[in-house]
Amino acid sequence: MVRIAPSILSADFAALGDAISRVEPVADLLHVDVMDGHFVPNLTIGPPVVAAINRHTDMVLDCHLMMTNPGEYLGAFQRAGADWVSVHVEVDRTGELLDEMRGLGLEAGLAINPETPFEAIEPWLDGLHHVLVMTVHPGFGGQEFMHEVMPKLRRIAAHSNGAIVEVDGGIDARTVPIVAEAGATCFVAGHAVFDQPDPAAAVTALRRAAEATVGSGR
Ligand code: DX5
Ligand code: ZN
Repeated sequence: MVRIAPSILSADFAALGDAISRVEPVADLLHVDVMDGHFVPNLTIGPPVVAAINRHTDMVLDCHLMMTNPGEYLGAFQRAGADWVSVHVEVDRTGELLDEMRGLGLEAGLAINPETPFEAIEPWLDGLHHVLVMTVHPGFGGQEFMHEVMPKLRRIAAHSNGAIVEVDGGIDARTVPIVAEAGATCFVAGHAVFDQPDPAAAVTALRRAAEATVGSGR
């Protein structure tokens, strides 16, 4: 199953509700990038905005926590309406964080940065709901896709044990076939959706590109 997750990082934050309404009929998830100014050199949104989004839409909220101390906020994100939550494997206390997320009823996932080796995530792959493989250095939208992550993506996909393999960063109609061929089935896209004149058509184009590769069994 192919899933397309528009990232609101590239949406107009002053018209977020409108942006979400445009993709809701055609997208599977809404990707919410939470940045703390420590783990990444940027600040975005927190639980109050997630709660406002949750009141506005029925979409599944896929919250990507680029935070040094996600454990202090998991309950707040759960109460705000987060559904899928990813914490970074580069942050300490991975096992405890996964237990906490599961205890809160969240779909627990791990994100992994481009330079972090496969071995860092390998011990945790069993039982994960999803793995979020970064194909850019996190912090900003609209960056160049990193082809050098593909060997690691292949290894993660081969050992995913049923976890959904999600990719994030520089995903567009040109790079979707590359990551789909390497085993991704869930595709986050910010610039390629919300910086386009017709975000819904952009989501549909990404889905077609993904299904053409996933469906061919390559
Ligand atoms: C990057 C974020 C991504 C970002 C992707 O730090 O985690 O989710 O929105 O943006 P694009 O698709 O523009 O690379
Ligand atoms: Zn993200």
